[in-house]
Amino acid sequence: MIALPDFPWDRLAPYKELAQAHADGIADLSVGTPVDPVPAAARKALAAAADSPGYPQTHGTARLREAAAGWLRRRHGVTVDPDDVLPTIGSKELVAWLPTLLGAGRGDRVVIPELAYPTYDVGARLAGAEPYAVDGLVAVGPERVPLVWVNSPSNPTGRVLPAEHLRKVVAWARERGAVVASDECYLELGWEDHPVSVLHPDVCGGSHEGILAVHSLSKRSNLAGYRAGFVAGDPVLVKRLLEVRKHAGMMVSAPVQAAMAAVLDDDEHADEQRGRYARRREVLRPALERAGWRIDHSTAGLYLWATDGTDCWDQVRGLAEKGILVAPGDFYGAAGRAHVRVALTATDERIDAVVRRLQ
Ligand SMILES: Cc1ncc(COP(=O)(O)O)c(C=O)c1O
Repeated sequence: MIALPDFPWDRLAPYKELAQAHADGIADLSVGTPVDPVPAAARKALAAAADSPGYPQTHGTARLREAAAGWLRRRHGVTVDPDDVLPTIGSKELVAWLPTLLGAGRGDRVVIPELAYPTYDVGARLAGAEPYAVDGLVAVGPERVPLVWVNSPSNPTGRVLPAEHLRKVVAWARERGAVVASDECYLELGWEDHPVSVLHPDVCGGSHEGILAVHSLSKRSNLAGYRAGFVAGDPVLVKRLLEVRKHAGMMVSAPVQAAMAAVLDDDEHADEQRGRYARRREVLRPALERAGWRIDHSTAGLYLWATDGTDCWDQVRGLAEKGILVAPGDFYGAAGRAHVRVALTATDERIDAVVRRLQ
C-alpha cells in the first residue's frame, strides 16, 4: 500500500463547526471553490451537446484543441500546435497522475515547490516516487530527477515567478533531461504582477521541448463542477500522455469538451469574473491589514497569504470565532506555519460580512 498523507481538510472540520455557529452564519474563505455563476456560453454549449451517445475522443475534438491554442495565443502570447493540446478531467487529475503517466517510480525524486498545492506531493507518492519540496534547484545537486513542478501564480502564496526565474528552471531541467510541468491554473489572475506562461518564447526560447503547461477552466470560467482542464506543450510528451490516457480511459465527456471550447473562445465572461475577484480583493486586503495581518506575496492568484505572526492554527481559531473560515498555512508545507490562506471565492455579501467582522 502506498502511504498517503491524511486528507488535510478533515483537520479543519472543528473550526468549520465553530464558524458555522456565528449568529450571522459562516463566511467560508477556506477552499478556493468558485461561487459565481457558470457562464452562459458554457451552459448553452453543454446543453447543445447533451445528445452525445458515443465515446468522446481522448485527444479532444479539433474544435476544443483549436480553441485552447487560440486562447494561449490571444491571451498569453504562446504559439502551440492544436495537436499538442490534450484535455484533462480538471487539472487536479493530471497533477495527481502526471508522475505515473511519465513513468516516474521508485528511487525517483519529483521536485515540488516548498509551499505548494498538496496534490504535487500526492502525485509523486502515487507513482511510488518521493516528493522533494525545495525552491532552489541548486539544493538538488547533480542527481537526475524525472520531473520538476512549478506553479506561478502560486497556490497558496500568490507569488509570481518572473520569466527569468522560469527560464533558469527550464535550462536546468533541459541540462538533466528532466520534464518541467508548470501549473498555470491562475495565469489570468495577475494583480500587481503579470504572470507569464512557461511556453512563452521569453521563457522557453521558442522550443517546447521538455515542457508541459497545465491549465484549468475551474477558476477562469467557474467550471470547477464540470471538471475541465488541459495540458499543452512538448509534442513528444503530449503524444506519450495521450497514448497512456487512451488505454486508461482518461477522457473528458463530450458535453464538457463543447463547454470548454465555448469558454476558451470567449474573453468577456473571464474579464467579468476577474473584475469580481479584483473588487473582493480590494476590500478584503485592507480589512485584514487594519485588523493586524500582514499580507505577503499575493500579487496574483485567488488567495491572500496572511500572517499576524502567531501559529497558523491560532489564527484559524481566532478567525473561526468571528465566523470566518480560512486555511492554515501548514496545509501547504511546514514553511507556512505562521500564515493563513484567505480565498477570494465568496460572494460579495459574504466578503462584506468578513470586512464588518474584522473591524
Ligand atoms: C495550484 C492548483 N493546481 C490545480 C488545481 C486543481 O484545479 P482543477 O482540478 O479544478 O482544475 C488547483 C485547485 O485549486 C490548484 O490550486
